[in-house]
Amino acid sequence: MAQINEHYQKLRAGYLFPEITRRVQAFQEKNRDVKLIRLGIGDVVLPLSPAVVEAFHAAVDEMADPDSFHGYGPEQGHDFLLETILEHDYRARGVTLNKSEIFVSDGSKCDSGNIQEIFGIENKIAVTDPVYPVYVDTNVMAGRTGPINEAGRYEGMVYLPTTKENNFSPALPDEKVDVVYLCSPNNPTGTVFSKSDLKQWVAYAQENETVILFDAAYEAFITEADIPHSIYEIDGADEVAIEFRSFSKTAGFTGTRCAYMVVPEKLTGRNPQGEKVSLNKLWRRRHTTKFNGASYPVQKAAAACYTPAGKEQIQANIAYYLNNARVIREGIASLGLDVYGGVNAPYVWIQLPAGIDSWGFFDKLLNECQVVGTPGAGFGPSGEGYFRLSAFGFAEQIEEAVTRLKNQLSLKA
Ligand code: MLT
Repeated sequence: MAQINEHYQKLRAGYLFPEITRRVQAFQEKNRDVKLIRLGIGDVVLPLSPAVVEAFHAAVDEMADPDSFHGYGPEQGHDFLLETILEHDYRARGVTLNKSEIFVSDGSKCDSGNIQEIFGIENKIAVTDPVYPVYVDTNVMAGRTGPINEAGRYEGMVYLPTTKENNFSPALPDEKVDVVYLCSPNNPTGTVFSKSDLKQWVAYAQENETVILFDAAYEAFITEADIPHSIYEIDGADEVAIEFRSFSKTAGFTGTRCAYMVVPEKLTGRNPQGEKVSLNKLWRRRHTTKFNGASYPVQKAAAACYTPAGKEQIQANIAYYLNNARVIREGIASLGLDVYGGVNAPYVWIQLPAGIDSWGFFDKLLNECQVVGTPGAGFGPSGEGYFRLSAFGFAEQIEEAVTRLKNQLSLKA
């Protein structure tokens, strides 16, 4: 009989968002006429921008003609997209990278889940806490942790509490870690790392031969000057960091699927003999073996995000979501609650009143206001006592959600 990967049995019963869906469905079955407002999973609602749609259509037409048809493309991505990424996302910010360092894919969830495959099983992994659950769960699946303990922490994994007490900038680990996941703008807290925060991390990584896995999927939402959009804006980061970027939230590609990863040529790990090995080469081997490239029309659509019209339209959508975030922030603050994020990110992170835990608040919000959010505890033990609302919704729904919270929510435990 086939033996299973026993590490899967260490995982919590369900991935966070399907668990929320399950609870919401159960509620809806009992309350069929209720109009729910869903601000749980961070999924975009605005359609693709016209410039993107036009390029997408044109590329599909190319696929319909034998003279312009494309079969398998280069696994790392078509040159037209790689060049465009280098120019707009990096050269424009003073960062020089090569095409060989960019790997186009079908999503940052897969990228940030798959990257751990090129690291040894004995590596000590650190995550900020609360955290995007994919980083943790994929390391559990790979067998890099022990079981989960009563506090909700997997043994062997280093958790770096990231709360209002440290201004959402965790202290460096007091032990040596081999790999650390950082996310800025952060999912779930909506807060950002400053240049000096990232400088500290790069210095730590250089000193300890740590690899930083830097998730910048939400960089397009940064509004404040001086907040780094890429970790490579920090000197030396190309020796220690991999970066994840995505078109999902930036350009409404959650259902279209396109992202990319930067694995610099200078970045190395060590083999069991202690010799340095290029992580770019390892990832290329992995990527070309398991992936045949994002589809041609999708890459054409992604490239259109960087045209003048594409940029303008995408910026308008981002401004729309950020205005939603402002409405949520102000609404929550008017209830007397402390609220974080939502300025450089589409997520608002709410501190709950003493005595109400985050799943309890989830139920309260659902039952009293018919609004769905995400409990902080679902992102890790230090997320307990907090709650996330997503700004990805239609403006009228966001206004309505805030009105319901103001009028219908009781903040008593
Ligand atoms: C979230 O709500 O945290 C995101 O939608 C998750 C994701 O991007 O996979």
